[in-house]
Amino acid sequence: MNILVTGGCGFIGTNFIYFMLHENSHVIVNLDKLTYAGNPENLISVEERYGGKNYFFEKGDICDRETVQNILNKYDIDIIVNFAAESHADRSISAPDQFIDSNIHGTYTLLEMARKSGIKKFVQISSDEVYGSLGSEGVFQENSALAPNSPYAASKASADLLCRSFYKSYNLPVSTIRCSNNYGPFQFPEKLVPLTFLRAREDRSVPVYGDGSNIRDWIYVSDNCRGIYLCIEKGRPGAVYNLGGDAEYKNLDVVKKILDVMGKSHKLIKFIQDRPGHDHRYAIDHSLAAKELGFKPGVRFTEGLELTINWYLKNEEWVDGIKSKESSELMQSWYR
Ligand SMILES: NC(=O)c1ccc[n+]([C@@H]2O[C@H](COP(=O)([O-])OP(=O)(O)OC[C@H]3O[C@@H](n4cnc5c(N)ncnc54)[C@H](O)[C@@H]3O)[C@@H](O)[C@H]2O)c1
Repeated sequence: MNILVTGGCGFIGTNFIYFMLHENSHVIVNLDKLTYAGNPENLISVEERYGGKNYFFEKGDICDRETVQNILNKYDIDIIVNFAAESHADRSISAPDQFIDSNIHGTYTLLEMARKSGIKKFVQISSDEVYGSLGSEGVFQENSALAPNSPYAASKASADLLCRSFYKSYNLPVSTIRCSNNYGPFQFPEKLVPLTFLRAREDRSVPVYGDGSNIRDWIYVSDNCRGIYLCIEKGRPGAVYNLGGDAEYKNLDVVKKILDVMGKSHKLIKFIQDRPGHDHRYAIDHSLAAKELGFKPGVRFTEGLELTINWYLKNEEWVDGIKSKESSELMQSWYR
């Protein structure tokens, strides 16, 4: 199959491309605009090994119809997996415009071009953030109400509704994945896990929003990639699948665990003013994905954190490259 992966130079897209080329013999075309979060260096070894054979890179914007149309024709694309998005909720609060463009208009453009080209499968990568916030009880199920609280979450929920409408109105075979917080190699250091690691590595203070009691479910990125692949293989058109890691932790406990793995003092933790509209708790019921796709998270949280930290430690060149991109503002307080 010829698969168009959008946003393949970002964190999850990169991991997905490695996963697909390692485990399967598909042709992957990566369309990425290369925003601050897109790093072509992530895929240097893919370029070396598969470039011009099973792997092709195209720089471009998913909002641009002509670009998308040309790629669908040029590579005779069968399947689209849409990772491309502005992904950082904090940024969406200070500057929502780009989130509306890429996440809503971009998804719409891909859907429209997919419909016209007769695509066999479209997988939309969404987020558990579309459901809003939980109290101390309960879990998100696929039929839970959409109640997004940040412009980021609202843009992802809007894209999900467009996907639904293209399935209902045009029978476009769209399946949607709503995954929880991913962590693992290649994550841009505005997000909690790499931010904590990079700052602690230099014995700088590690920021924690509010009192750190916000709870997230954490999924190791390779488990998410496997779930997405299972969705390509077995996902029902029109279906939404939650993917989670069975690992609910308070942000403060995540930070402490990272410091423990690194052998660093908890004294590095610095509590900072909470962000507006910070959702209290996310929790995922992924039993539908277990039943219909055979999905099961395989990496336990502590093991995944160790894998992640070891990866960052072994890939100093990548870390230094990313650090040169970072602004001091980024490293101060932005993480999801
Ligand atoms: N990271 C998580 O924990 C998480 C959790 C749930 C859902 N998601 C979703 O998964 C997807 C991937 O997330 P990520 O963490 O890898 O994001 P990321 O920010 O690391 O990467 C996004 C990629 O998309 C590209 N991109 C952005 N706008 C584009 C456009 N208009 N055209 C083409 N390319 C564009 C960027 O250059 C970048 O390479 C996103 O849709 C995000 O909403 C992420």
